[in-house]
Amino acid sequence: MAAPTSSAPLDRPGALHHRHLLDLSTYEADEIRYLLDTAQEFREVLDRPIRQVPTLQGTSVASLFFEPSTRTKLSFTLAAGRLSAETVSLSKSSSSVTKGETLKDTARNVEAMQVDVVVLRHPSPGAPHFLARCTDSVVLNAGDGAHAHPTQALLDVLTMRTHIDSFEDLSVSVIGDITHSRVARSNVQALTTLGATVTLCGPETMLPVEMEAAMDVRTTTRLDAALDGCDIAMALRIQMERQDAGLFPSTREYHRQFGITADHLRRHPDLLIMHPGPVNRGIELTDAVVDHERSIILSQVTNGVALRMAALYLLAPRREDA
Ligand code: CP
Repeated sequence: MAAPTSSAPLDRPGALHHRHLLDLSTYEADEIRYLLDTAQEFREVLDRPIRQVPTLQGTSVASLFFEPSTRTKLSFTLAAGRLSAETVSLSKSSSSVTKGETLKDTARNVEAMQVDVVVLRHPSPGAPHFLARCTDSVVLNAGDGAHAHPTQALLDVLTMRTHIDSFEDLSVSVIGDITHSRVARSNVQALTTLGATVTLCGPETMLPVEMEAAMDVRTTTRLDAALDGCDIAMALRIQMERQDAGLFPSTREYHRQFGITADHLRRHPDLLIMHPGPVNRGIELTDAVVDHERSIILSQVTNGVALRMAALYLLAPRREDA
């Protein structure tokens, strides 16, 4: 099938002023809107009987995942496949990294196999930026430490956009472990660039108050204050692996203070619920909230494929001879 038709000039070279997608700090509102418009087109393509387009025939995409992932890894693989790209993937445990090979050498070997795009998830903040400097491949950040998760934030704002009239009138509260959340950071960048109002809420030990001035957001340690006047609440995963650090007394106490329940939905009848996944049911959200009709968590996942198709479509090099 042909590329999607759109008011957006999809074949315009240089439509994005970036070669890579490393974080959203330098992406302008027009670029984000262009990515969202393109993803919306692909979202419609995904509902058709034939979901594959030939656009990236001959282009190769390598997914290097040095941390576990379900949604990001599968959706990048599906997205590349639906654009007809060739895909390969590598996880830390099955790679020569376990024998001591460095990230740079891994990437240069991948590049020597003429890979065009590297999708990288890595525990070290800045790893995708490093890779972009030391290889010629296009690099897409699939989450680097607590730094950035740009495609997650873009799929989140894409999902929000289907429920709102304008970002300028939108109020979003992000609730949880803000300090360690790459999702929170990238969402703040995307949402504030698009003009939305953002509140960050969590226990004091997980709430970097300096973000208030640095990122033009409001912070609060009270869930009720975060939900008052809020259109969309995005709960973040409590990272059990950090529980030893004593950042909160217990998961039960966390749930008591910051868990969203059916009672909150009753008190806020228009509130929509989002979560990047994986959800700790009964901690960030009760079962009733996860499965509620105002939970749009699975729409986020569906939109993730379309958004990653758009990112690959706009950034991956084309093989003109294909
Ligand atoms: N939201 C997200 O990054 O999920 P995965 O870790 O499963 O990719």
